[in-house]
Amino acid sequence: MSESRWTNLREILRYVPRFRDRVFVIALDGAVIEEDNFANLLMDVALLRSLRIGVVLVHGAGQQIRRLAAATGVTPSDIDGTGVTDAPTLQLALNAANRVTHEILEGLAVHDLRGACSNAVIAHPAGILQGIDYQHTGRVERIDAGLLQAFLNAEVVPVIPPLGTDGEGNTYRLNSDRVAVEVARVLQAVKLIYIAIAPGLLLGDRLLRHLSVEEAENILKRQRDQVRPAEAVSKLEQAIRAAQGGVPRVHIIDGRVEEGLLAEVFSNQGIGTLIHANEYKSIRKAQRKDVRALHALIQQGVENDELLRRSRAELERMIEDFFVFEVDRTPVGCAAVHVFPGTDVGELACVCVDSRYENQGIGAKLIQYGEMLARQRGVRRLLCLSTQAFNYFVNKAGFSPGTPEDLPPARRDRYERSGRRSRVLLKTLC
Ligand SMILES: CC(C)(COP(=O)(O)OP(=O)(O)OC[C@H]1O[C@@H](n2cnc3c(N)ncnc32)[C@H](O)[C@@H]1OP(=O)(O)O)[C@@H](O)C(=O)NCCC(=O)NCCS
Repeated sequence: MSESRWTNLREILRYVPRFRDRVFVIALDGAVIEEDNFANLLMDVALLRSLRIGVVLVHGAGQQIRRLAAATGVTPSDIDGTGVTDAPTLQLALNAANRVTHEILEGLAVHDLRGACSNAVIAHPAGILQGIDYQHTGRVERIDAGLLQAFLNAEVVPVIPPLGTDGEGNTYRLNSDRVAVEVARVLQAVKLIYIAIAPGLLLGDRLLRHLSVEEAENILKRQRDQVRPAEAVSKLEQAIRAAQGGVPRVHIIDGRVEEGLLAEVFSNQGIGTLIHANEYKSIRKAQRKDVRALHALIQQGVENDELLRRSRAELERMIEDFFVFEVDRTPVGCAAVHVFPGTDVGELACVCVDSRYENQGIGAKLIQYGEMLARQRGVRRLLCLSTQAFNYFVNKAGFSPGTPEDLPPARRDRYERSGRRSRVLLKTLC
């Protein structure tokens, strides 16, 4: 193993718990598969698998279609699955894509990884758009998440070509960048990684390293013509869709860089462009209609004695104090800030994240948001009580250990009566 940025073992280990048993969707441009570095990329995939990170490979076939077209003398009506696909071009796409899928499966086998291609992408025709019949070009109708999940559970790497089928024996040509977004969304992937033959996303000759979704949208609106390479515009559009659809991080990296994938995933520097969702945008004040979802959300924490039991009626009474973190319009995290009347003391309570969404920084975002609300409501001393997450509040959110004496009298009474003996934590808000 060569000495390089990502080989810092400590750095890798810091990230591993966050990604374990989560899914990365890796979208490979067809051209990447023909690079010498492709074998190394598969080795990196093997390493991700050995860390118990689920990997799904989605691939394109543009370069192979172009070559096959030249060899057979067919003029393709479209290369990347976004234009009109006529019948000869569909044949080219089928042949080229199947060949690429097979090469990937071969490569996986070299690394003792099991792979499988399936009919998990259900498509329907793109149809007639502005008077143009797109013929065999399709749109993703649905991804069979259960099928892909069954592969992942069986430690099989799903390999997904840019093709979809309907229930009537038809095949449609799809754009792989778009397929990757749909797959990442349904599998609630923590990362979507586009691997192309370019250093990432350039604005003129400047490599863009980090972009929020809003910044990415602004670039598309105002500086679209300066995005390089030109094909990256489509990736940027898809990255925004993915981030808006709940994929927290989308990367665009260069498939020619040795160890580039690992550097991107396991180091702070990264090598390409990262587009990240604005998580605050996902937080909103809770409303009465959320009571049922909130009650269900905190149930697990109550059962583990991490959270105080709250009836629906209580939640409804205190709903003004609650805020929720949403993914796809469903609350997956919540917290509340209660202010003790007539004091500058508040309590951050009921911080809770659905276990399927843990370790994505949602808890940290909720706490930051809660602190902001508390400040706005005049709180200078923020309390928090926890039975099992006190280290979290100390290490990740800057709280300090306190004692029951720090509680205002009425709260202290309730504390004593509950018998839960939670640890008291404190934070001074400036
Ligand atoms: C505690 C909780 C809110 C954390 O939410 P989260 O969104 O997973 O947390 P984040 O993504 O912001 O942070 C994850 C990090 O915190 C660490 N962490 C999570 N729970 C922890 C705990 N109970 N003790 C110590 N560290 C913890 C993780 O190991 C991870 O560490 P890393 O960044 O070094 O990999 C969540 O686990 C939860 O809902 N727990 C049950 C309810 C609870 O106890 N609430 C507190 C009482 S108010």
